[in-house]
Amino acid sequence: MKFFIDTANLAEIQEAHALGILDGVTTNPSLIAKEGIHGEEAIRNHYKAICDIVHDNVSAEVIATDLKGMIKEAEELAKIDDKIVVKIPMIQEGVKAIKYLSSEGLNTNCTLVFTAGQALLAAKAGATYVSPFIGRLDDVASDGLALIEQIVHIFHQYNFTTAVLAASVRHPMHLIQCAEIGVDVATCPLKVITDLLHHPLTDKGLAKFLSDHKGTHA
Ligand code: E4P
Repeated sequence: MKFFIDTANLAEIQEAHALGILDGVTTNPSLIAKEGIHGEEAIRNHYKAICDIVHDNVSAEVIATDLKGMIKEAEELAKIDDKIVVKIPMIQEGVKAIKYLSSEGLNTNCTLVFTAGQALLAAKAGATYVSPFIGRLDDVASDGLALIEQIVHIFHQYNFTTAVLAASVRHPMHLIQCAEIGVDVATCPLKVITDLLHHPLTDKGLAKFLSDHKGTHA
């Protein structure tokens, strides 16, 4: 399973990259806004700065919702760096945009996916990634992980090349269950990744090993 970090914060991206386990970055307009970035040029420069940190796969979302506008924006975003994956929302014009952009060889990530039917449409249109949002479904008392399982099952039936990118991952159990299901990629905040590190028996065991070692050098 690939690990993407779900943030536009450069320090967090650097930290995840330094861990040596990072395969990419996902952003969205809310995450960009959270960093206090204003204006087209500043946003483009910020995407470039993210691309300069990671090896591959930086998702950048279009704002337009009409076909022409989405294609224009996608082509502009793709020019920033080869690592850019253009995020297109799951709407009717978005499906057309994905079909066009994938035929032009651009990598796409179909975002805001909440049903298996939407995922199927994105895959049929040739999306590189499809992003079902686990946490937001859980927030409205739906089963986000059940949707992930359903999409993975459907994609395997037909050998779709579209990768399942589990998004809106909120805690370590989401990540572990995604791995059990066999998703291709999970994207989450840095804290969810670092939360995987900890166990009280690890801390207790290490403290004991270090104190016993100290005794051998007293
Ligand atoms: C990533 O592609 C999504 O935009 C993101 O995971 C959404 O996460 P949230 O539901 O925690 O905002």
